[in-house]
Amino acid sequence: MKTRRVQRSSSITRRDFLKVAVSTTALGSIGLFKMEAAAHEEGNPFTFAYVSDSHLYERKVNERFVRSLEKGINDMNSLDPQPDFILYGGDLAQLGLPGELELGNQILSQLKAPVKMMVGEHDWYFDMGKKWRELFGKDIYSFDHKGVHFVVLNSVIVEDYWTKPKMTPMERMLFMAQLDNPNGRSFTVGKEQREWLKEDLSKIDSSTSVIVFSHSPLYKYYKPWNFWTDDAEQVQEILSRFDAVTVVHGHTHQVLLNQIGNITFHGMLSTAWPWPYAPRGVPKLTIQMDRADPFDQFDGCGDGTFDVLSSGQVNTTYNLWARKPRLITYEEIPRLWMTQALGTFEPGPSY
Ligand SMILES: [Fe+2]
Ligand SMILES: [Fe+2]
Repeated sequence: MKTRRVQRSSSITRRDFLKVAVSTTALGSIGLFKMEAAAHEEGNPFTFAYVSDSHLYERKVNERFVRSLEKGINDMNSLDPQPDFILYGGDLAQLGLPGELELGNQILSQLKAPVKMMVGEHDWYFDMGKKWRELFGKDIYSFDHKGVHFVVLNSVIVEDYWTKPKMTPMERMLFMAQLDNPNGRSFTVGKEQREWLKEDLSKIDSSTSVIVFSHSPLYKYYKPWNFWTDDAEQVQEILSRFDAVTVVHGHTHQVLLNQIGNITFHGMLSTAWPWPYAPRGVPKLTIQMDRADPFDQFDGCGDGTFDVLSSGQVNTTYNLWARKPRLITYEEIPRLWMTQALGTFEPGPSY
């Protein structure tokens, strides 16, 4: 496959001149950040977008989260130019019921751009992914796009806690949905999938840009809420030989940035609700998100876009609803401290 040389950030700073133009489109609420890299760099820069964690109930139960996902769809369809593809980052359903997943599929079919799907624990534990796979296909796969290697993981695998106590499918689902569950199980990627990942990456040169999508963060943030992947270090080890890796995850429902070695982590927003930051264990590189207004269903929620630069590095734009979109460049991430971000999301146009 065609590979792209990833430049170290120091050489990018020196050699690339990135012109950032912000256009606030009249069509939608996302300001598009257009990145133009120096002409001598190889490859075509491109954009992909992200919507996640919609936690849909069936319409007869609750339409609140349907409205939020529809808002995200409207954001995506208003992007001009359209992104190359949209990643749906998991937790499409709330209880994993077939009706919820079908409703989600119906709403996502309104997207103009192609959609890549990733699974979350709320989609999985009612029927162990049966309906999800029927609708969306494989839960673990990779693809190449414009010289970048993309990997989609199922990071919500846990050991069997349901057979021995003879849990019903719904009991199994609710067990996973509970935060601060003293009997909870930690997510893993698991040995079998780690072997698959090793094999998948074995064909890829270490200078190729690798972007990994996982539902849970591929590091250890806060165990009692499963903001955590138990075999994160082993997955990081598999990714360690690449010059630069970007991990994009959902599940934490908050602006969350981190960098560990060669891996940059981007935690994305939910359309349904924001989680607060965990009471302890926040990595020092994490930025604090403005708290949601409890009387406003959209506050603290949103979606986002990614600019993959011709160098293979990735910049993120968080589109926090009712705030101005915030571009975070890959170069900023190691310098971001939680206190710096307070107030950095300026009030935006009302929605
Ligand atoms: Fe979620
Ligand atoms: Fe989740």
